[in-house]
Amino acid sequence: MSEQTSTEIRSTVTSEGNVEISIARVEKPTPSENEVLIKVEASPINPSDLGLLISFAADLDSLSVSGSGDNTVAKMKIHPGLMGAMKPRLDDSMQVGNEGGGVVVDAGANAKHLIGKTVGVAGGAMYSQYRCVSAQSCLVMEEGTTPAEASSSFVNPLTALAFVETMKMENHTAIINTAAASNLGQMLVKICKDDGVPLVNIVRKPEQVKVLKDLGAEYVCDTSDADFMKDLVSALVTTGATLGFDATGGGNEGKLPGQILAAMEIAANKTAKEYSRYGSDIYKQVYIYGGLDQTPTVLNRSFGMQWGLGGWLLTPMIGRIGMERFGQMRERVAKEIKTTFASHYTEEISFEEMLQPEIIKAYAKQGTGAKYLVNPHK
Ligand SMILES: NC(=O)c1ccc[n+]([C@@H]2O[C@H](COP(=O)([O-])OP(=O)(O)OC[C@H]3O[C@@H](n4cnc5c(N)ncnc54)[C@H](OP(=O)(O)O)[C@@H]3O)[C@@H](O)[C@H]2O)c1
Repeated sequence: MSEQTSTEIRSTVTSEGNVEISIARVEKPTPSENEVLIKVEASPINPSDLGLLISFAADLDSLSVSGSGDNTVAKMKIHPGLMGAMKPRLDDSMQVGNEGGGVVVDAGANAKHLIGKTVGVAGGAMYSQYRCVSAQSCLVMEEGTTPAEASSSFVNPLTALAFVETMKMENHTAIINTAAASNLGQMLVKICKDDGVPLVNIVRKPEQVKVLKDLGAEYVCDTSDADFMKDLVSALVTTGATLGFDATGGGNEGKLPGQILAAMEIAANKTAKEYSRYGSDIYKQVYIYGGLDQTPTVLNRSFGMQWGLGGWLLTPMIGRIGMERFGQMRERVAKEIKTTFASHYTEEISFEEMLQPEIIKAYAKQGTGAKYLVNPHK
């Protein structure tokens, strides 16, 4: 690579109805006075990246690849019925990659002290060899942390920590999480164990129960088990959890968010002193924070009138948490990046490998323990 250029991943939805993923060569950016230039060495492919990279509307069966090296292009058809939703990004060559880790190789006048530091950052456009971001947005890692370890220091760690903040702010005392064997879910198990927060984990396979139990999880309910609802109610009676976070949206044939609310209601009624036709007077909340399952959400309303179902996103939540507390959360992530917030990757891949059909299909699955790490310099 020339010293003056940098390559990066681009995703374009074309007017012809395709999504094309390619590698662009651009001028290496120069930091302004409050910015740093990061040599990005690692960036994970998270579910939140896939929405931009391949879009929710791509037909993976139509995947084809042409060229090689920096000229590799992966192409997929967009389902025609979903082209309307793609209008705002039509023919726009978009940079991708929410977060990453790297080393500061240059800095503006006010950030020279960061040169040589390993940082984690959620700067967007992180599938880039070099990336300029504001010095303030960098999480400076402790001595001995590698860029790969720093690369997932924002999206999942801070979301898991923010679940606990939400619980406290909204006066709940325990949490339920779904797709709980995920990278994020495993972090949440460790946080809740350390912080003494009762946590009920919901997974969909028996082997995922083992993964979480091995991490020290106390309550793990499996939707594939015939006793799922019974187990869930029992865990909710013991923990008193009235706050659920659902990463699927449409999990368990669309029923999962409603099943959680129903189990909360059954648990609440076990301690009710008298019958009320409006249901229990305990407020029950489920937040959908991911779209792992695109099945429509089905609510069989059997949980009275004291409940809420809403969306949850980290970025607006940071505003509610406030910068002081958020700063403390970031410090904890840097300190515990090798333990509580450690991420595991199935493979480290180059930009060219990232565009290969079998690899695209593998990361599009969003399976347990199947997260890929992109190394822009491989
Ligand atoms: N709202 C926010 O601000 C925010 C922030 C960060 C993360 N998130 C969300 O958090 C979730 C977890 O992210 P991650 O990076 O930790 O994921 P990950 O490590 O890639 O794991 C994904 C997990 O989801 C499970 N899964 C996939 N499809 C499923 C389905 N249809 N029904 C039930 N389980 C399913 C997988 O299990 P199998 O092996 O069984 O497929 C796997 O355990 C994602 O939905 C992500 O979008 C949201």
